[in-house]
Amino acid sequence: MKLFHSIFFKSLFIYITVSILSLFSTVLYADAAGQWRNGTHVYIKICSYCHDTGIGPELKGRNLPPEYVSNIVRKGFRAMPAFRATEIDKEELQMLSIHVGTAAANNQ
Ligand code: HEC
Repeated sequence: MKLFHSIFFKSLFIYITVSILSLFSTVLYADAAGQWRNGTHVYIKICSYCHDTGIGPELKGRNLPPEYVSNIVRKGFRAMPAFRATEIDKEELQMLSIHVGTAAANNQ
């Protein structure tokens, strides 16, 4: 009986963990390319999660060249994940890079 319980709770724990993880991956990847309204929208939905929270460096207010931003978004850079065209398409990436390059810093 005791053995049954521990196996039961172990499976329950694994089941719940896997469910929660798969829920998050759905949330992360459910947003397909082509649905972003503009550069600000992409930034808020994807980039700000790391870049306005101190996980990644501050991007706004630095006048980063748009080509530099696009390149890093497509290819990734060390801890920075790469985003494919299925996640952020060409046009969205262009709008996003211009937004990041021209946006004022958060504290201004
Ligand atoms: C999961 C977290 C995460 C997300 C989401 C993310 N980044 Fe980053 N990004 C990072 C980290 C961490 C670095 C620093 C990489 C390093 O130096 O190791 C970085 C670095 C960068 C750099 C280089 C900054 C510099 O100082 O030269 C740019 C540009 C950049 N990210 C743009 C973006 C854009 C645009 C988005 C949205 C599409 C984005 N990132 C989404 C984590 C993230």
